[in-house]
Amino acid sequence: MEKKLRELKNRFFSELKTVRDDDFLAELKIKYLGRKGELASILRGVKDLAVEEKPRVGQLANEIKKELLEVFGRTEAIIKKSAIRPRNFDSSLPGQRREIGHLHPSTIVQEEIEEAFAKLGFSIFDGPQLESDYYNFTALNIPEDHPARDTQDTFWVEGKNLLRTHTSNLQVRMLEKYGAPFRGIFPGRVFRYESTDASHEHTFYQTEGLMVDRNINIGNLIAVMQSLLSAVFHKKVNVRLRPGFFPFVEPGFEMDIECFICEGDGCSVCKQSGWVELMPCGLVHPGVLKAGGLDPEEYSGFAFGLGLTRLVMMKYRINDIRLLQSGDLRFLKQF
Ligand code: DAH
Repeated sequence: MEKKLRELKNRFFSELKTVRDDDFLAELKIKYLGRKGELASILRGVKDLAVEEKPRVGQLANEIKKELLEVFGRTEAIIKKSAIRPRNFDSSLPGQRREIGHLHPSTIVQEEIEEAFAKLGFSIFDGPQLESDYYNFTALNIPEDHPARDTQDTFWVEGKNLLRTHTSNLQVRMLEKYGAPFRGIFPGRVFRYESTDASHEHTFYQTEGLMVDRNINIGNLIAVMQSLLSAVFHKKVNVRLRPGFFPFVEPGFEMDIECFICEGDGCSVCKQSGWVELMPCGLVHPGVLKAGGLDPEEYSGFAFGLGLTRLVMMKYRINDIRLLQSGDLRFLKQF
């Protein structure tokens, strides 16, 4: 019987948690403490107990009853106090519109890119933002003391760790894990120790691409990129390559796209050149393939580092990068 009493108390407290209004509270009171309620029905059994048990059980039952009554009283008071009583309620007023959220422009473009690459057989991968010096730099042919480290101002964390400065940190991780042939993109957040202005942020997004197989060449890279760009800009976009240096590709390039505003005629956005810089890319350096456990005699590949944030700015003609992470609804509501 003591067990039953304790169970009753526990059930009561868990039901009490679900009480939202005084009607329900009143029901609960009848159920547990009413004349025909659960406590009363247990107490009716006291008379059948052995004489020596009666006082103990009786006392417990009284204690529980007292406790429950007290808690009821307190809960009732709280509910009364907080009850929302609409005053001057005017049923003829129009309802309030609920605002529905939507995707951030960066997410919109990221999803478009993911979809376009998925169609070309690329898988999408995520990876650590807190990274080791090794995967962010050394494995990519950027040893300690290499001047290329200076081009990526880095947030260092204890123990030779850092916040990744680029999504290229996943190149060697992926090759180690999946080997070749490999086809993947790695969209994600990257960090630079920069002071911010209209075109610099400490946190932004890139999408790295990596394709490794036998006989991969620049032609494959151009074809893949053209297909991607037409998915993002919804029309055919011309591209061109200029030489560029990045320690983890050889040869390395800067890929430009024909200016999407003047379509090549020359305007202020493309500084009258007709071309806009889009992304660095190149053929994966043999040293990087080796670091990933592959034989560079057998495999080759291309890699690119698409500035996702940059692409978003181009697509929507946003002239200040800081707007993207400002949380300013006047800006965000436009997408
Ligand atoms: N990770 C480089 C950066 O953030 C960009 C880059 C250059 C990525 C060339 C690549 C590449 O994959 O091939 O500055």
